[in-house]
Amino acid sequence: MADGILLLATLLFAIGGLGEHHMKYHVEKRQSGSRDTPLLIANWCDNDIHPGLLTQGGDGPPETGFHLSPGSNQTVYVASDWQGRIWGRTNCSFDDSGQAQGGSTACSTGDCGGALACEIAGASPATLAEFTLSGSQSQAFYDISLVDGYNLPMAIVMVPNGNSQLEDIPGSQTNPSCVGSVGDLAAQNFNPYSGGQQFLGTDSQSPLPFEIKNDASTVAQWCPWDLQVDTPKGPGDGVYSYPDDDVKRPPFNPCLSACAKYNKDDYCCTGSYDGSGKCYSNYYSKSAKSVCPDAYSFAYDDQDSTFIVPEGGAFQIIFCPGGRSTNIIALKNGQSSGSSSSGSGTNLGIGRLVIDGRVRRRLLLFSLLVT
Ligand SMILES: *[C@@H]1O[C@H](CO)[C@@H](O)[C@H](O)[C@H]1NC(C)=O
Ligand SMILES: *[C@@H]1O[C@H](CO)[C@@H](O)[C@H](O)[C@H]1NC(C)=O
Repeated sequence: MADGILLLATLLFAIGGLGEHHMKYHVEKRQSGSRDTPLLIANWCDNDIHPGLLTQGGDGPPETGFHLSPGSNQTVYVASDWQGRIWGRTNCSFDDSGQAQGGSTACSTGDCGGALACEIAGASPATLAEFTLSGSQSQAFYDISLVDGYNLPMAIVMVPNGNSQLEDIPGSQTNPSCVGSVGDLAAQNFNPYSGGQQFLGTDSQSPLPFEIKNDASTVAQWCPWDLQVDTPKGPGDGVYSYPDDDVKRPPFNPCLSACAKYNKDDYCCTGSYDGSGKCYSNYYSKSAKSVCPDAYSFAYDDQDSTFIVPEGGAFQIIFCPGGRSTNIIALKNGQSSGSSSSGSGTNLGIGRLVIDGRVRRRLLLFSLLVT
């Protein structure tokens, strides 16, 4: 019950605070059978990436994996009740038939069984964009997840797509970004809005709140030593689990989650740790949260990482957005204590995303409470 009150409270805080902003960040609508919701996937990285896409419910696109050169993007169309995830694969090499060349693995991170077109989830570590486009109460749920580890910076931009309910929600509340790679990180005084510029669907009228505590050195070091995919050689050459922090880490430094690396119940919130109030943040999720406050960091991190908006929108998924991580949810939670709800009827709240069975049970609880 205490849990229920907490969820309700989090939902309630979120009603309101909506401004008069109309970010007309439009993606063309197109009818293609039942798939009418565009997802634009953009590569703003300096390197080639191969996005992978896994459908967990509703009609997904025929394109489940493809190449994106730096600066390019591709739009795929999904059903308005689509549920699934999108991630980026790095350092891939495929033969002409779209298979791994001479082996079973084609990419160094995010690989899906060596295939260009993914039919299974990507290997850890991979930063995920997770969507349930039509969840309880006719709402869309989405998040950036580091539960399976981190490989690339990522932002999600909600596109109202002509839906007036969504046009009234400022992008500063809907567009999270996670920048956990030092090469992509802007300085602490980052301001993308000078000269009327827009950034991730926001402008100076409704600026994104950025995480401001980290600097290049803390972002370079956030991944716990033992969870680095390419643990640099250092004193002890891996014999000591926490060698001298002065050892230089590689610039591209994908990070496994503690759950992905050790598969232990307390890290994965499984077994006797499966339940809210039974599973807590661990050394990995704390580190992940410190660089990406709006990202999902462990299996019961719902209230601090899930975005909820009325259904009907489209989305952009941007790899290597640059700038800095956003800090939308924590700031809103903090601000909500003294402010009242405007009763606009739009729920932009924090709830639970349905991605696997574990999470589904929680969403049910959530639906029961708000019904
Ligand atoms: C997608 O590509 C087009 C054409 O190059 C470009 O104009 C647009 O800004 C890109 N969108 C994003 C979000 O990267
Ligand atoms: C692998 O991919 C990452 C991220 O795209 C890039 O920074 C790195 O240079 C690549 N490494 C190689 C050996 O190509």
